[in-house]
Amino acid sequence: MPPTRRSFLTQLAAAGVVAPAWLSSAGRAAEPGALVEAFAPRLAAAVDAAGRIAAAMAGASSDPAVVAADEPRWAEVQAAWAVDRTILNLENGGVQPSPAVVNHAYLQAWLASHEAPAHSLNRVLWPQVEGVRARLAAAFGCDPEEMALTRNTTEGIETVLLGLRWTAGDEVVTTTQDYWRFQNTLRQRADRDGIVVRQISLPVPAESADEMVARFAAAITPRTRAILLSQVINLTGQFLPVREIVHLARARGVLVVVDGAHGFAHVPLTRDSLDCDIYATSLHKWLGAPHGTGFLYVRRERIAEIWPLYPAPAELRGSIRKFESIGTVPAAPYLAIREALDFWASIGAERKAARLRWLRERWLAPLAAEPWLTVHTPRQPEFAGALATVACAGLPPTQLAAWLWERHRTLVRPIIHPEFQGIRVTPNLYTTPADLERFVALLKAAATKGLG
Ligand SMILES: Cc1ncc(COP(=O)(O)O)c(C=O)c1O
Repeated sequence: MPPTRRSFLTQLAAAGVVAPAWLSSAGRAAEPGALVEAFAPRLAAAVDAAGRIAAAMAGASSDPAVVAADEPRWAEVQAAWAVDRTILNLENGGVQPSPAVVNHAYLQAWLASHEAPAHSLNRVLWPQVEGVRARLAAAFGCDPEEMALTRNTTEGIETVLLGLRWTAGDEVVTTTQDYWRFQNTLRQRADRDGIVVRQISLPVPAESADEMVARFAAAITPRTRAILLSQVINLTGQFLPVREIVHLARARGVLVVVDGAHGFAHVPLTRDSLDCDIYATSLHKWLGAPHGTGFLYVRRERIAEIWPLYPAPAELRGSIRKFESIGTVPAAPYLAIREALDFWASIGAERKAARLRWLRERWLAPLAAEPWLTVHTPRQPEFAGALATVACAGLPPTQLAAWLWERHRTLVRPIIHPEFQGIRVTPNLYTTPADLERFVALLKAAATKGLG
């Protein structure tokens, strides 16, 4: 019988879990049971809210854009997170809080795995992870044997960039806005193996797919082996025309490695809508799955050519499983992906994407015409979703972000790049219109009165 919320809370209480020091206002470790007292009721209420989402969405318009603005329908969704509401968290780009129903499932699986790990973890829980792989593969539209479960996008992309058999003189094309870790990886391969990295720059914002494709096309030479690109650029939230770039590259025998860190479950997509051969994502971003979960998709016929980061048995050379040969890791985060998928389905992928864009416009539209604001993110739906980056004249991003946090408990991400700067603002489904009105007022106050 699956554990119920009540049996879980009883289990947690009986376990005498001690709250971490940050939960105790005095900064001391709290008494046993304090975690349950402090956290469990909030978690329970939010878990219950998730159960009401399907009913809240029933009978909604078939047009996602209409539902996005249908405020009463979003109340249960907002209530499904047990987040700290004294913080205005507009930094959902880096890592997100999971909906409570996901945390609840995660904690249950975590406790269950410790009952007798050689049995409960290895024989009971790990086999269930295969069901998670099957569901994720169905959501992405690939075969389960083309999907490795990873801990994050970093693991997936590093596996590919370090595992491809490039030799001196082979070229890799990427942009100046790709994720810093992978730029380091390519630099290391240049130093170690003599590959050549060609970085192109893209307009900020970029509002023409043709122009972006043309810039990639111009960088391809007969020595080009691969293109590394971000589906969604983390610095600005800019979307790239992945499918068009894949087709251009494939016609020239070039492999495209898609960094999908911000793509999956942010906007609707499948392997076939992108038509890509390699895609890595983090499920702790837009799917809201536990921290430390992701997947790497590799088209079946390309698996054998990529070395795994950790050597695997030789007979796994053509198997996606070779990328999972990484030693003992917990099953609980992977198991709770099920609840994250259910939660996402209860809202609907199209509705979620439409609501996120609606939330972005809710703060951006009232500010966009201000003479002190520069918007680095395109606002057409095909080019951006929840993330947007803006520069405020006279307000250095790092100082503005510090002022927002220290004075107003508001989280945003300062973006400092050689080609542009600003603050990145990323609401989530738990963000309310009132939150965003408050944020608009804060930015106006900062722009007109300064940070003093
Ligand atoms: C574009 C991009 N790629 C990759 C990553 C790495 O994600 P993770 O830390 O989950 O591996 C990030 C993280 O924010 C990112 O923004």
